[in-house]
Amino acid sequence: NENKLIDKYGRRFRYLRLSITDVCNFRCNYCLPEGYQCDSDRDFLAVNEIQTLVRAFAGLGTRKIRVTGGEPSLRKDLTDIIALCANTQGIDEVALTTNGFKLQSKVQSWQQAGLTSLNVSIDSLDPRQFAAITGHDKLREILAGLEQATALGLKVKVNAVLLKPYGEGQLHGFLQWLKTTPLTLRFIELMQTGDNQTFFNDNHVSGQPIKQQLLAQGWQSVVRPNTAGPAEEFWHPDYAGRIGLIMPYSKDFCASCNRLRVSALGKLHLCLFAEQGLDIRPLMQAGDVAALQQRLRDLLGQKDASHWLDKGYTGATRHLAMLGG
Ligand code: GTP
Ligand code: 5AD
Ligand code: SF4
Repeated sequence: NENKLIDKYGRRFRYLRLSITDVCNFRCNYCLPEGYQCDSDRDFLAVNEIQTLVRAFAGLGTRKIRVTGGEPSLRKDLTDIIALCANTQGIDEVALTTNGFKLQSKVQSWQQAGLTSLNVSIDSLDPRQFAAITGHDKLREILAGLEQATALGLKVKVNAVLLKPYGEGQLHGFLQWLKTTPLTLRFIELMQTGDNQTFFNDNHVSGQPIKQQLLAQGWQSVVRPNTAGPAEEFWHPDYAGRIGLIMPYSKDFCASCNRLRVSALGKLHLCLFAEQGLDIRPLMQAGDVAALQQRLRDLLGQKDASHWLDKGYTGATRHLAMLGG
């Protein structure tokens, strides 16, 4: 196990979530309701630092990199970052999580640079609700961008955070859409973070009733590869699309954890809700792949068994834009 990332619970890590900025231009009510607050000019990871990081991870068995934010498309060098990930030996999947506002203008260049899959946040298919949640009236443009992405052959998923006020309507609207739309829609249980406690208390609903409803309507479980994220997925013979559920409040959610995270400022986060980030930037700056690998393996020893979200624990995570979810 010399050159693999395996923790003391026997979990193997083949999936890196790399945040390249924490800046976001949307104001999703569960994440950044006041919009992004710029405290100072921060110095996000440069392309050469990212190159060292990705080489180190790839040499330790990482096969998939997901680029996240904030909103990653706010960085002018996003296409270069995608290309360097795709061109690193050992990496066979390069994914991006975005709010979609630059999809139409950029998706083709991302795909040409080597992007293989794309996750886009759309919490409602009703343009007014969409604008109320995100602060931007951009649903039509984003949906058009999704069609382009699908036509380019990217694996496309849509994320919708489950929110109590929209209730059943959220499921119905998306089900209709999935009859003819060939992508995967994932409902995500709202997670409590340091900044959203009141919002969480008022809006959190479990995904379990949706799962029961889907099973009752003939949806069937999909078996997923070991680089897949935490969603449970379902398919149905009458639907072009699939449905997934991400239920971090379910028992044993963390038992299958397969990902590590690096923030835009070069800190390793062993968990989305870890107490703190562990600084690995000096080794990224030095370009020393072997030393960085040794440090990653040492730090992994500190990874906890679970996020303890069900106990109301949020660690140091004030909102998910800090770390890209
Ligand atoms: P893929 O299956 O590879 O598409 O990845 P994903 O579902 O993890 O990616 P995405 O960036 O679209 O994230 C969707 C939601 O899952 C976000 O709300 C994430 O915060 C959440 N999520 C992803 N990984 C974890 C995790 O390790 N722990 C928790 N609690 N939530 C996670
Ligand atoms: N709980 C659940 N999902 C969240 N996201 C952002 N904040 C939260 C939260 N508190 C989602 C976004 C995006 C994904 C990366 O994380 O909607 O789809
Ligand atoms: Fe893994 Fe932490 Fe995510 Fe749980 S919250 S699935 S332990 S990274």
